[in-house]
Amino acid sequence: MIYFDNNATTPIAPDVREAVRPFLNELYANPSSPYGFARKTSVAVATAREQVATLVGVRPAAIIFTSGGTESINTAFHAARALRPERRHIVVSTVEHSATLACARRAEEAGYRVTHVPVDEDGRLDMEAYEASLTPDTALASFMAANNETGVLFPVTEMAAQAEERNIFFHCDATQVAGKIPFGVDQRGMTFVSLSGHKLHAPKGVGALVVDPTLNAPPLLAGGDQEGGRRAGTENIIGIVGFGAAAELAHNAPALFEQSVRPLRDELERRVSDAVDRVRMAGATAPRLPNTSMLLFADAPSEALLARLDMLGFCCSSGSACTSGAAEPSHVLAAMRIPPEYALGAVRISFSRYNRPDEVNEFIKEIGTLVNSLRQT
Ligand SMILES: Cc1ncc(COP(=O)(O)O)c(C=O)c1O
Repeated sequence: MIYFDNNATTPIAPDVREAVRPFLNELYANPSSPYGFARKTSVAVATAREQVATLVGVRPAAIIFTSGGTESINTAFHAARALRPERRHIVVSTVEHSATLACARRAEEAGYRVTHVPVDEDGRLDMEAYEASLTPDTALASFMAANNETGVLFPVTEMAAQAEERNIFFHCDATQVAGKIPFGVDQRGMTFVSLSGHKLHAPKGVGALVVDPTLNAPPLLAGGDQEGGRRAGTENIIGIVGFGAAAELAHNAPALFEQSVRPLRDELERRVSDAVDRVRMAGATAPRLPNTSMLLFADAPSEALLARLDMLGFCCSSGSACTSGAAEPSHVLAAMRIPPEYALGAVRISFSRYNRPDEVNEFIKEIGTLVNSLRQT
């Protein structure tokens, strides 16, 4: 099997597995319990909090552990709405993850006005439209640092500063950048930052919301006093300890992704272009994550391509959704106004630190024949 779907999720790193092992075995205490045995788990949570905080350059007190990116995003929307109830406007982009778009839709159903800032053909955000969208009525501006489908980066540092100048809360969905490229949180501009463990070799079902504790963001989940009363529920110790170890591992990621992952991705794109005609790479001229390639094969249906690739042992995905039997381009490719013949032939390759050049060779051996055979049927 060749795993090329690391923007969907990543394998658990060996170091992470080792770090969590004691908590799957002898260290099972509830960290809130009042005896020495439980201290080992509460100390482990504190260590993980420091490790995740260090990864994004904030104080440990700013980290709230959650069940993942989706919960963090929901919490940011919940908190922004609760803290500024008099403001009735929300700004997002057209290419956000479904978690953000769904939170924006919920707000709309509750009477909010929502602005969807568009992107161009390469997935770059329309920065003029962004600035124009920020008003005194804006409760939250929520944007991803990197797009999960195309890897295209938004200038979130600049955007957060623009929001801050106007006293507007900014939420950054950093799920796809953490552990891939340098990402430091400017606490002043970025009111909320969402992170997800399983995108950087931690177990699934853990994430974090970064938010200054002095903001007193009201919790989404009510209940016990865990996470300083900011997220109730007995801590997911396995996930949290794993996330901490993964954050530690991620320190060398920016250098490693530049030195070995980007060349692998660039070589894949160059060789695919040589092997197949009528192929494009979405967002290729925009600033992009070094690990992501959204290949668009004209007149080769993505669903069939992925099924054949699967039979050959390649795990890849596409951005397209299948609604009532008819393939539709993903909302991201549609927002980029990619012509349908290309958008319906999408195959996303996303690498991790564990992919190797021989895996790219294997892919190149197959892809030309595969695409051509599908075009003839
Ligand atoms: C950009 C982005 N935001 C949010 C999420 C949701 O994260 P999680 O799977 O941890 O809920 C994902 C995961 O697919 C993502 O790619």
